[in-house]
Amino acid sequence: MEIPKLLNTEISDVAATSLLTLYCHALESQSKDTILDDPLAVEITDKLNPELSQSDNKFYQSLAKGKVEKKLVVHIAMRAKRYDDYVRNFLERSHHGIVVNIGCGLDTRFHRIDNGKVIFYDLDLPEVIAVKRKLLPETDRYRFIPSSVLNYEWMEAITQLNPDSLLFLAEGVLMYLQEDEVKSLVLKLQSTFPGCELIAEFFNALWLKPPLQGIMNRKLQRDLHLGNDATFKFGIRDSKDLEGWNPGIEFLDDWFYLDEPENKLGLLRVLKDIPFFRKIQWTARYKLN
Ligand SMILES: C[S@@+](CC[C@H](N)C(=O)[O-])C[C@H]1O[C@@H](n2cnc3c(N)ncnc32)[C@H](O)[C@@H]1O
Repeated sequence: MEIPKLLNTEISDVAATSLLTLYCHALESQSKDTILDDPLAVEITDKLNPELSQSDNKFYQSLAKGKVEKKLVVHIAMRAKRYDDYVRNFLERSHHGIVVNIGCGLDTRFHRIDNGKVIFYDLDLPEVIAVKRKLLPETDRYRFIPSSVLNYEWMEAITQLNPDSLLFLAEGVLMYLQEDEVKSLVLKLQSTFPGCELIAEFFNALWLKPPLQGIMNRKLQRDLHLGNDATFKFGIRDSKDLEGWNPGIEFLDDWFYLDEPENKLGLLRVLKDIPFFRKIQWTARYKLN
């Protein structure tokens, strides 16, 4: 199968998913009554459009034409805004806070939330960071980590800073990993950075079994044109499940986008009263003591 290329960098199917969320941010940012103000995402998509429109890859072509399902754009923009708010809230509570955005993709969060003090790490696979480096400059306070999150050597750079307070974000990433990988990662974060906060998005494990799994994979591959390797592998049933992984993992709260009073959700809002739909994908916040 053809390996997708971006700005002359070969990227995997999973890495290519970072384009989808970037385009959602850019499209929403240009819409009326926008949920997410992200001019940098618009700038970046303008730079990528010529390459994507010339590609044979269907996924790239539809992005370049701005053809992304409206409800996905709204969901992803609401999610990005919510994670921005989580970071702002964390920075208000901890003046020397450090943030690590795991599986950052091409997201521009640092530029949306920068308070002039935060040290912000964007971590993603080397191929994604190689693309990101061509688009955004690194600075003293905005640093890139080109590594799989599962290759724990990346943690050394953070331990050297001896951080007072540390926030890890995992927005739209853990579902692409295997269950044992996610468990081991969370336990490693807990033992290396006791007291840190983790905010992560989860997929409902119910949807990882047939026949729901088939529906989800068709959605990812046929409707969104994502590559065959970009499938969801990990899920939980409840936010509190993580507390059973190790003593000291403390569930704080969770967030379901359908609960938001957002007009752009339209008819989708009626689904919030049906737990089966409300809880397909959601975010939870933990303290790792
Ligand atoms: C759907 S994108 C989400 C990007 C970003 N968090 C956002 O919401 O815009 C998933 C990202 O997870 C990254 N990813 C997947 N597996 C990873 C791994 N083992 N280590 C680091 N990043 C990974 C992919 O490269 C991709 O950029």
